[in-house]
Amino acid sequence: MTERVFSGIQPTGVVHIGNYLGAIKNWVNLQNEYESFFCIVDYHALTVPYEPKELPERVLELGATLLASGLDPEKCTLFVQSDVPEHTELTWLLTCITPVGQLSRMTQFKDKSQGQAADSIGAGLLCYPILMAADILIYKANRVPVGEDQTQHLELTRDIARRFNNIYGETFPEVQGLFTKTARIMALNDPEKKMSKSIPGSYIALTEDEASIRKKIRRAVTATGADPNTIPPGVANLFALLEAFGGEEDAARFREDYQAGTIRYSDLKEAVAEHMLAELNPIRQRYHEIIADREGLKKILARGGEAARTIARQNLHEIREKVGLVYQ
Ligand code: AMP
Ligand code: TRP
Repeated sequence: MTERVFSGIQPTGVVHIGNYLGAIKNWVNLQNEYESFFCIVDYHALTVPYEPKELPERVLELGATLLASGLDPEKCTLFVQSDVPEHTELTWLLTCITPVGQLSRMTQFKDKSQGQAADSIGAGLLCYPILMAADILIYKANRVPVGEDQTQHLELTRDIARRFNNIYGETFPEVQGLFTKTARIMALNDPEKKMSKSIPGSYIALTEDEASIRKKIRRAVTATGADPNTIPPGVANLFALLEAFGGEEDAARFREDYQAGTIRYSDLKEAVAEHMLAELNPIRQRYHEIIADREGLKKILARGGEAARTIARQNLHEIREKVGLVYQ
């Protein structure tokens, strides 16, 4: 059987270097090895409050960011989820075989609904992982690159697929996660926490300008809350960034300096900035070129949508027959 990869990313604003190192860069490598589907999951973005007028712009910006980072429409199918409405029909079919208890035990659901009265929690937030399962299963994808935060959702996807196969006959393959080796990138201003778009000052956006990147790295917290016997989290984060942006040799040297007690954080930060900018400057440049040609960008996404839809339609037809929804 062909190995087919599927992954999704939400168009919810800033794409930061954590997203790039933890997800996007991995996709760029996978497109060379697998038949790959990468999806801008706009239906998922509707599960939390958002501005409808801004959503189309967010989708295009994310599309441009993914292309600028190296996704190649000749090598992978890059598309927008709502261009393939078959995802939502499969979601309904899968919703009917998914226990509410299992959905309400999902950590992400518990986190996002915490402190809210049941009457104000949207059912979309509860059903979010079924939509994710449908995204994957409608292409019968068997490899899914995600961050560790999505492990539980992948287990649910496997459960749903198994239950479907048991009830209606063998249809979906076993889904496996492809977890990135990259370290979790921590907040620059608070390195005990994960770099996140919800912590101001914690992140560097992928298309941020050079002066601003340099400034943020210079200000990165290095040595708070440290246990004297271990590398402080802010310093470990700078080492991780240096390694992730191709500065492994420099990082090895700085690690030695750290052991010897001769490290100069200003030099370490300078090296991080140089390696990061060497990779991000061309990405930013391509991003601006791509986003300036909006019609060209829309065409690329539409073409991806058509290719994805052809497969989704075929698979949904088979699924409809199995569940008894084909009458002619
Ligand atoms: P989010 O939009 O924050 O859910 O992030 C989307 C994906 O980006 C996650 O599933 C992770 O794979 C990756 N990611 C987000 N934040 C980080 C981080 N700080 N370090 C590494 N990877 C991250
Ligand atoms: N839930 C994923 C996230 O927040 C995004 C996503 C939606 C996804 N559908 C998917 C990831 C299918 C992998 C496969 O990161």
